[in-house]
Amino acid sequence: MPILSDYLKKADERLKRPPVWLMRQAGRYLPEYREVRKGHPDFLGFCFHVDDATEVTLQPIRRFDMDAAIIFSDILVVPLALGQKVWFEAGEGPRLEALKGLGDLKTDIDLERLRPVYDAIGKVRKNLDAAKTLIGFAGAPWTLASYMLEGKTARDYAEARRIAISSPELMDGLMARLINAVSLHLMEQARAGADVLMLFDSWSGVLDATGFERWSVQPAKQIVAKVRAAFPNITIIGFPRCAGTGYLRYAEETGIDGMGVDASVSIPELVKLQKTVIVQGNVDNLRLAYDMPSAMSQLDGVLKKSLPGQLIVNLGHGVIPQTPPEHVGELVKKVKEFTW
Ligand code: CP3
Repeated sequence: MPILSDYLKKADERLKRPPVWLMRQAGRYLPEYREVRKGHPDFLGFCFHVDDATEVTLQPIRRFDMDAAIIFSDILVVPLALGQKVWFEAGEGPRLEALKGLGDLKTDIDLERLRPVYDAIGKVRKNLDAAKTLIGFAGAPWTLASYMLEGKTARDYAEARRIAISSPELMDGLMARLINAVSLHLMEQARAGADVLMLFDSWSGVLDATGFERWSVQPAKQIVAKVRAAFPNITIIGFPRCAGTGYLRYAEETGIDGMGVDASVSIPELVKLQKTVIVQGNVDNLRLAYDMPSAMSQLDGVLKKSLPGQLIVNLGHGVIPQTPPEHVGELVKKVKEFTW
C-alpha cells in the first residue's frame, strides 16, 4: 500500500520521517514541463490529454523522488463538466462565462467529459512506484462558486460574497449542485486509482466567520460524508487556505484525515492543530523561490517542532514559476535526511 495514505491512517510505522510533496510540483518552474506545455496552446486540452497529463504528473517524481504525485488537472474542470464555458487566457489565467443563475448549468455533472482525467489517473497509477501515493483532487464548492460567479480570479471575491449575502437561496442552490458534482468527481478519481483525495478551498479566507461555516465547513463535511459512504477507507485532505482561526473548527467538524495550512500559520499554532489532525504545510512558496536560507530555516522549524507522525511537508501554497528547480530538490533532500 502506498506510504502517504498508509501514513495518514497509522502514523509513522513505515516512515521514520514525514512524507513530502509540493502543491504545483508539476508546473512551469520545470523545463521538462515547459517543453510538453509548448505542444498545447489550450491549457484544458493539455489537462485532457491522457499521455501528456500522465507524463507531467510523473516528471517531478522522476527528478526529485517526492513521496506523492498529484494528478495534473485543474479545479475548473468541474464547472466545465457542469456545462459552463471555461477557458484560459495566455499569461492571465482562467476565464469563465460568469453564471447568471442555476438555469445556466446542468443538474448533474457530465463525468464522461472528465473521462481523460480518470484515464490519466489509471495510467499514472500503473507507472508510479507502488510505494508512492497518488493524489486526486477537486476545488471546494466555495472556491468553485467564486470563479463561476466572478468569471475570473478576483482578489477579494466581492461579487461572490455579495451574492452569498444578498441571494443566499441562489448560493445554497449552487452549493448543493457543487457538493454533489465535486463528490462524484472525487469518487470517480478514487475508483480510477487515486489513493488520497484533496479538496482545495483556495478562497475560504475571504469569508466572514458565518460564511466560513456555511460555505466552507459544512460543504466539506457533506463531501467527506458522501465520498466515505462509497469509499470508507479513502484518505481525505482538506485545504481551507487562509482560514486563520477557522482552521481548528474545520479540522474538528469536517471529518478530514489531513489538513493543508498556509504559510501564515506559525509553528506553535501548527503544533496545536497537530493535536487534532495531521497537518500538511507550510513553507512559504515565495521564500522557496527567492530566499532559500529562510525557506530552509522555516522547514527546519516545522520538522523539529512538529508532533511525530502528524506532519506532511508541503508549501503554504503552490510552487511558483520563478522557483529554481534546485531549491525544490534541496527541500526534498532535507526532509529525507530528517528522522524523528
Ligand atoms: O502539480 C499540481 O499541483 C497539480 C495540478 C494542479 C493545477 N491546478 C495545474 C495548473 C492543481 C492541483 C491545480 C489546482 C488549482 N487550479 C487551484 C487550487 C490551488 C491553488 O492554487 O489555490 C486553483 C485556484 C486553480 C485555478 C487556476 N489554474 C488558476 C488560477 C490558474 C492560473 C494561475 C497560474 O498559476 O497560472 C491555473 C492554471 C494552472 N493550473 C497551471 C497549472 C500547472 C499553470 C498553467 C500553465 O501551464 O500555463
